[in-house]
Amino acid sequence: MPRHIAVIMDGNGRWATTRGRPRTFGHASGARAVKRTVEAARRLEIEALTLYAFSSDNWRRPDTEIAALMALFRRYLAAETERCVENGIRLTVIGRRDRLGGTLRRAIAASEEATAECRDMHLRVAVDYSARDMILDAASRLGAGGQFTREKFSEAMAAAAHAPGGVPDVDLLIRTGGEQRLSDFLLWECAYAELVFSPRMWPEFAERDLEAAITEFQRRERRFGDVGDEAPAAAIGSA
Ligand code: FPP
Repeated sequence: MPRHIAVIMDGNGRWATTRGRPRTFGHASGARAVKRTVEAARRLEIEALTLYAFSSDNWRRPDTEIAALMALFRRYLAAETERCVENGIRLTVIGRRDRLGGTLRRAIAASEEATAECRDMHLRVAVDYSARDMILDAASRLGAGGQFTREKFSEAMAAAAHAPGGVPDVDLLIRTGGEQRLSDFLLWECAYAELVFSPRMWPEFAERDLEAAITEFQRRERRFGDVGDEAPAAAIGSA
């Protein structure tokens, strides 16, 4: 089983538009898919699940769409924190905090505090997140000329993203909505992630889709730069 699954939840807007509904309707349906996916991941005993809810580039969207998304995040935290506690799910939010509204910041702090001792699964929601900004921030925290290791750099990345440590690198990255790109998500942590692109629009993503992505992951041979058992001695490359 993958220990850490990350998801780029894409397709809310297109799903709504093809139904003649506003994009915000797609996001509200997407929030229900979040709830289903968290429950499914917990049932499957996934250790960490990171969901891309709002990228730093999403601030370019119309104010009304941003306001609707922020309201959905607040409502999600208000409605789900208690359920997370009951199910042993630690909830944290990664990304920048300084551009979020005060009410959302307080809701995040309350959820993080309430779930801090939960150990069965770690749910991380990425809000105002840019992997490149996190890498830049981490590099400036460590300063020039230091002899830093990958572990030290990972710690600085975690500090930059307000992310508690101890989360393994991403094993499986799923992107819904048919596009095939990373969109500045977890670039450092996905160094050896298996990528699975699903044509399913996020509001329709269901437990069977998560299971299908995990089955696909299990079919892949992960070599981490080594050669497989069957590889000829002359094999080169590090894929
Ligand atoms: C990507 O674009 C999706 C988002 C920017 C928002 C993701 C938000 C949710 C899934 C709902 C709320 C989340 C939580 C954690 C409660 P898009 O779906 O607008 O894509 P499209 O325009 O390409 O279809």
